[in-house]
Amino acid sequence: MNILARYGIGGAGASGVVASVEAAIREGRLAAGMTLPTVRELAGALRVSPTTVAAAYRALRVRGLVHAHGRRGTRVSPRPPLPIRPFASPPPHLRDLSLGNPDPALLPSFSRALAQLPQRRTLYGEPANRPELLALGERQLEREGLPHDALAVVGGALDGIERVLQAQLRSGDRVAVEDPGYVAVFDLVAALGLVAEPVAIDDAGPLPADLARALRTGVQAFIVTPRAQNPTGAAIDSTRARELRAVLAKHPEVLVIEDDHAGPVAGAPAISICQGRERWALVRSVSKSLGPDLRVALLAGDATTVARVEGRQSVGTGWVSHLLQDLVTTLWSDSATDDLLRRAAAAYTARRDALVKALAARGIAAHGRSGLNVWIPVSEEAVVVAGLAHAGWAVRAGERYRVRSAPAVRITVAALAPNEGERLAAALVGVLRPERRHASA
Ligand SMILES: Cc1ncc(COP(=O)(O)O)c(C=O)c1O
Repeated sequence: MNILARYGIGGAGASGVVASVEAAIREGRLAAGMTLPTVRELAGALRVSPTTVAAAYRALRVRGLVHAHGRRGTRVSPRPPLPIRPFASPPPHLRDLSLGNPDPALLPSFSRALAQLPQRRTLYGEPANRPELLALGERQLEREGLPHDALAVVGGALDGIERVLQAQLRSGDRVAVEDPGYVAVFDLVAALGLVAEPVAIDDAGPLPADLARALRTGVQAFIVTPRAQNPTGAAIDSTRARELRAVLAKHPEVLVIEDDHAGPVAGAPAISICQGRERWALVRSVSKSLGPDLRVALLAGDATTVARVEGRQSVGTGWVSHLLQDLVTTLWSDSATDDLLRRAAAAYTARRDALVKALAARGIAAHGRSGLNVWIPVSEEAVVVAGLAHAGWAVRAGERYRVRSAPAVRITVAALAPNEGERLAAALVGVLRPERRHASA
């Protein structure tokens, strides 16, 4: 079939081509991962100059809708920033362990806190951040020995990361990311027109030698998850932190962004590699500890970075709703919340450990030092996901969480009951046996 008819791409100028490719992606004619016609092919079919098509492809790349795939051409991004569903929902009869959510039973009830909220209305012209929330945040960071030169409030970890990247980087800049790493960070980096440089990790976080290699490629920023790393559960310990700080010290200009998305329920101590750096940010979200719908995170960072983020916020959304800020302040001021967070951290640790142990007893290695997930290396992700679905479990293929690292599946254990861990491990053995025979055949 003619490529124009197949993809529905048209347009006489670069902006027309951009609009038609965007519409084709939005409407599903061009799916994630599909290869676009080459510049020459499309220019020939549209009877326009190759320069016009090249300009259109560049504009699409800057917006993260497509990415260059070396000699293999230009492809639609895995998750272009358009309203299309990133992952298909598993069928309702499966026990869903694919979503990375916290256990709703371990999140605080809002009803009591809502009744205690200050009854003042916020109008235009008030300070963006509630001083009480900033004071509590500062005390937390101080207690944990974390840096807190300047503080702001943002709409969750990803919002904070996006704002910091936009405050400091330009389209085309390179950003070091963990591999395996959080898929939404990969997608965000692409959507901002930035180029991801994967850094290998183990259970103690990024490997210093691989970070050094990535830094030599000229990255401008490094996004790191100090604990509850998604998907592997890695947590940086003090030895690794020292090594990473030493590697980073040779690149004082690099912006380091720490994603502390799980905070107090991570099941590993808070740690930072940002002390003394010129440009840094630490984003502590309440999504995993108080609930993802709050869309609140504290942003700590150097004075310039935080001022740029706040300045940009002030000419856009203005502030994070003071209702939400007051709700977090009220919850953080309640000792019952502290008790719940301690119980949640212990429960997540017990659930991870139970599954990792049940798997180890069956000869299956798995990772899960902290956080809400367990990461299990496999040779054929799709076979394991399908096999487990047949046995009644929905888990996530690791493919989207990896760049160069080896295949695996991610299992969210946040709400896994103890007896389920044993049953899941047994099901996995059943799935992996034929898979391993197949892999060695
Ligand atoms: C590593 C990591 N960062 C950030 C987020 C999202 O955090 P938020 O909801 O605060 O944007 C998640 C959510 O699962 C995550 O796993």
